[in-house]
Amino acid sequence: MVDRLALLATIGALPTVAAGIARPLFSGAEFEARTLVARWARASNFTLAQDLAGNLFVRRPGRVDGATALAPILIGSHLDTVDGGGAYDGAYGVVAALAVLEAFEAQGRATEHPLEAVAWAGEEGSRFPLGCLGSGVYAGLNALGDVEALVAADGERFVDARSGACGLLPGVPVREGFSRPAAYLELHIEQGPLLEAAAERLGVVTAIAGARRFRVTLAGERGHAGTLPMAMRRDALCAAAEVVLALEAVARALGDCVATAGYLALEPNETNVVPGRAVLRVDLRSVDDGRIDALEQGLRDACAGVARDRGVGVTIAALERRAAVPMDVRLRASLHATLAAAGEHAIDVPSGAGHDAMCLASVAPAAMLFVPSAGGRSHVGDEYTSADDLERGAAMLALATAAIDRELS
Ligand code: HGY
Ligand code: MN
Ligand code: MN
Repeated sequence: MVDRLALLATIGALPTVAAGIARPLFSGAEFEARTLVARWARASNFTLAQDLAGNLFVRRPGRVDGATALAPILIGSHLDTVDGGGAYDGAYGVVAALAVLEAFEAQGRATEHPLEAVAWAGEEGSRFPLGCLGSGVYAGLNALGDVEALVAADGERFVDARSGACGLLPGVPVREGFSRPAAYLELHIEQGPLLEAAAERLGVVTAIAGARRFRVTLAGERGHAGTLPMAMRRDALCAAAEVVLALEAVARALGDCVATAGYLALEPNETNVVPGRAVLRVDLRSVDDGRIDALEQGLRDACAGVARDRGVGVTIAALERRAAVPMDVRLRASLHATLAAAGEHAIDVPSGAGHDAMCLASVAPAAMLFVPSAGGRSHVGDEYTSADDLERGAAMLALATAAIDRELS
């Protein structure tokens, strides 16, 4: 499994390890990664399917197949990355899920439920502006038509990319319609510092933070950097900076939440011109929706303030809104029991990062298992989790899948 992750990490790799990986949905690299996973799956004679969102399903039948088969247990994650992402975010969960099916096949272990290892399309939203794109369509949270209307920053429409050379996999049947899964499990790196700080090797996720994303457009007045007196300026970047720092102060004061302005575009973005227009994208998160409300109010108050005090026009557009999602209590207990029976210890941890499990939780009991991230770092090229931790997590995923198959039968 670790070797497969190392091979996947070369697909979309940027010139240096520190620069990371770029594998946006329906790019050549992401297509190559999906093709590789499909090749591994075919080698085990598993059945492949995909859907119109670009999700890839690898199916191993249960004891009873065909029309009377039980609902499948899905285990998976995503293959796409942020620009400059790491080797484990998403890919780990997909590779480990496939390894579970292969292990059961090698052991001749029959499961009551069909198992499906899944590579969800476009979880990062790094190309088409919607996070959990594929799992959201699968769970009915994103209308396929809305997704098909998305346009990437590079101008390509989703529908064109999907039908293009790097879109759906040739020779893989396209699955239409929806069959409710019996349960969903996702193995993922923590992407944060909690397990490492607690010197723990495994975490059972309690809830996944809700997230709200906004585009904030600040319209001031461009002018000559040398001749426009400070008192006469309506500097869009200064206004944006004031909003960002005010939001940071609200998040720090509130606690148990995070606020990030990770994107800034300036016009005209020239050294000797006072910025006339600034566009921010803001990301607000907490496992407590009330705190996200307070963060949003803080954002709106800060925007109103710069509009009033700096004479800058401000518009706030909501881009995405996902409530905090608790993981299934029964599956969490099952995970703890399975890990304990295997002689492992796990702690409960919240997930500040979003995951496909947020969407799956709306159609089936969903649970997540974390392994530590070195230094709590992720969405960076040098994202790292030890081989020992990776193997341990994958072994626990297999045991948990078998246990849940029994418990749900
Ligand atoms: O942004 C997130 O939390 C996830 O990595 N897409
Ligand atoms: Mn992820
Ligand atoms: Mn990510």
